[in-house]
Amino acid sequence: MVTGKPMFSAEQIRIRVSELGSGISADYAGREILAIGILKGAFIFYADLIRQIKAPITNDFIIATSYVKTSSTSKLDIFYDAREEIKGRHVLLIDDIIDTGLSLSRIRDKVLQAEPESLKICCFLDKKACRKIDVPVDYIGFEIPDAFIVGYGLDYENQFRNLPYISTFKKKS
Ligand code: IMP
Ligand code: MG
Repeated sequence: MVTGKPMFSAEQIRIRVSELGSGISADYAGREILAIGILKGAFIFYADLIRQIKAPITNDFIIATSYVKTSSTSKLDIFYDAREEIKGRHVLLIDDIIDTGLSLSRIRDKVLQAEPESLKICCFLDKKACRKIDVPVDYIGFEIPDAFIVGYGLDYENQFRNLPYISTFKKKS
């Protein structure tokens, strides 16, 4: 059971996602986007965001994990890699949250090796104070303090992703 405090309501999330979508739509006017979601955490944000983008989009995903319980590890496991051709495309990587930056940095390097025409990154949440490696993030929903959170796609042991709001997490013992 979640016993933490709500951080962003469903309404705050909806407004911010819509603002991000408008910014991305303006930046990509006249171009086609290859939107690559980083699963599992980004699946709800991804689905909401792409519906706010007014540019042609092709969808793909990378399934990766680096978290064990509540802390990030430097080992990144990729279980599913994007199938779309990346070379020459305008790639937008979409992730739920950036913490140490280790996962996103490795995924970014991998995508860059495939020679996209352009690469931008959109993360809904940013735990800036926790960064261990610098990663250029082009679009950020909210900057948040160093707290473990769940909801809106984010999990603790693969649960609580379905909460429609974002909450800090404390395990009830
Ligand atoms: P990083 O490699 O440390 O930046 O970790 C990024 C990934 O860890 C994110 O894409 C999330 O899937 C997961 N993560 C980081 N912080 C949290 C959190 O507070 N709650 C749930 N998952 C998190
Ligand atoms: Mg993630």
